Amino acid sequence: MADVGVVGPSSLVGGEILEVLAERAFPTSTLRFFGSMHTAGGWVERAGKEVRIDLARADSFNDLDVVFFAAGPTVAGEFAPAAAEAGATVVDCSSRFRLDPDVPLVVPEVNPEMVPHPRVPGILASPSATAVGLAVVLGPLAAAAGLVRVVVSTYQGAAGGGRRLVHRFGRDTVALLNAQGEGRSAGSLAFDCLPRVGTVEPGGATTHELHVVEETRKVLGEPELALSITAVRVPTFFGYGASIHLDTARPLTAAEATEVLRTARGVIVHDEAADLFPTPAGVAGSDATHVGRVRDDPGAPNGLALWIALDSVRKGGAVNAVQIAEIAIRER
Ligand SMILES: NC(=O)c1ccc[n+]([C@@H]2O[C@H](COP(=O)([O-])OP(=O)(O)OC[C@H]3O[C@@H](n4cnc5c(N)ncnc54)[C@H](OP(=O)(O)O)[C@@H]3O)[C@@H](O)[C@H]2O)c1
Repeated sequence: MADVGVVGPSSLVGGEILEVLAERAFPTSTLRFFGSMHTAGGWVERAGKEVRIDLARADSFNDLDVVFFAAGPTVAGEFAPAAAEAGATVVDCSSRFRLDPDVPLVVPEVNPEMVPHPRVPGILASPSATAVGLAVVLGPLAAAAGLVRVVVSTYQGAAGGGRRLVHRFGRDTVALLNAQGEGRSAGSLAFDCLPRVGTVEPGGATTHELHVVEETRKVLGEPELALSITAVRVPTFFGYGASIHLDTARPLTAAEATEVLRTARGVIVHDEAADLFPTPAGVAGSDATHVGRVRDDPGAPNGLALWIALDSVRKGGAVNAVQIAEIAIRER
């Protein structure tokens, strides 16, 4: 049994971590919550009991075995090292440590061996939802036929931007439907697609796109992989989709790729014959990465094209984080 802490229980991912811990019967003896000045002193309902949210501080984590951080990179940078120093295994969902060469970046279906056994204090990072979905699908394809080049376009719902973006998207949508206000506000997602996730860096790519490329390479253990991505925010609440075009090193037909993915861990391949395609909204609440539209791409040598969809808050965040912690405590 483990003494567990969650930093950011009011965040989308933090709230889902609480659900996932219960669903997967994570062996928890005590559970403590840590929030900001806004939520500290409040209460979270847990298995019929109210649990208090304490203010997150550097000395909050003594006597905890596992601490989940779901409160963004600034909070992780401030408190995660202190939690690890105090003896906890930290699983951080933010971008803060993902590309730190000393921190394992883990997608349990792909590189579980990166989690040290038995549990040792330290920080483990969970990738962005986009990199999680890409790694789960690209890992088995890379093992089957090698990857030469991958080109991705994402369709990311509001939830990927956190609770505040979900609220703003809902508010703006209702306002436009009711013909309220002066019209569309700048940068609003309501009834629109925004081809910029994160800030634009010199060269034109966004921070998010640059990070997803490096995170995916790190998880796959392919630091030189030619991977290009355009990330687009779309007007859906939950879920995310991605169109993937790839060239394999060795020939792999669509039928063969489908078979590889059917047996891959954490993947559900949808039945094209029945006209069933996974959609971001349709896979909300699922813990799998869903695949559809696997097809040969005649536009490239050894070309393949496919579509994936997953719930960014669940497998893209909370589920992946809890799976990492399960591996960490398994041999205790
Ligand atoms: N959303 C996704 O789909 C997704 C997927 C994978 C990874 N992630 C990552 O997971 C993290 C959480 O994302 P989210 O979208 O769930 O966030 P969110 O809904 O935007 O919530 C942000 C949270 O940060 C907390 N926070 C801010 N300052 C704090 C402090 N000083 N101490 C403790 N908590 C503090 C807030 O808590 P208070 O309410 O107490 O202020 C709030 O709960 C981010 O790093 C994000 O990149 C998100």
